[in-house]
Amino acid sequence: MGVDQYIKMAEGYDGTVLIKVLQKYLPADSTVLELGIGPGKDMTILKKSYAVTGSDSSKIFLDRFMEKNPHDDLLLLDAITMETDRKFDCIYSNKVLHHLTKENLVKSFQMQKEALNPNGIAFHSLWKGSKVEEMEDLLFTYYEVDELRKITECDFDVLAIETYDEIEDDDSIYLVLRAK
Ligand SMILES: C[S@@+](CC[C@H](N)C(=O)[O-])C[C@H]1O[C@@H](n2cnc3c(N)ncnc32)[C@H](O)[C@@H]1O
Repeated sequence: MGVDQYIKMAEGYDGTVLIKVLQKYLPADSTVLELGIGPGKDMTILKKSYAVTGSDSSKIFLDRFMEKNPHDDLLLLDAITMETDRKFDCIYSNKVLHHLTKENLVKSFQMQKEALNPNGIAFHSLWKGSKVEEMEDLLFTYYEVDELRKITECDFDVLAIETYDEIEDDDSIYLVLRAK
């Protein structure tokens, strides 16, 4: 899928509601690494409260965002390998980790723990369900609450896992985790 198509698909959606939830767990001015900034809508909201580093595995998205935000801190980073020596108070993503296989999601959470400061928070949203499908060459892996709990609970304390509505009723899940 091309960048323009992705940006069109995301029109009308952003992480306003999710970031309000995050604020209950994460003090203002904390450092946040966002995985998969895409068009950068969430990053723009996060920047109002936090010291944000944006990342994506696609250089095209980063270059686009950089054009309008030349002073922002951006990293080319794959959510699976998380190859960075830097540490953050929080790692955030909104509808990114469903692009990983289930095996790679497990790896990603292990690597995220390494990139968090002690007691750091991971906050992610994913699509809810049990399907695995490919659309326009992109993988979409859906999860149920119990499965996400199982995947994350060895490295993190689960502070919250809730369903919410994005396009349809109860089609999404957010999770708030604290590194053990
Ligand atoms: C739905 S967009 C995220 C939109 C973003 N939350 C916003 O506010 O605009 C998903 C993004 O995840 C990125 N992505 C997909 N696989 C990734 C991976 N393995 N590591 C990092 N980013 C990835 C894509 O390049 C895309 O930019």
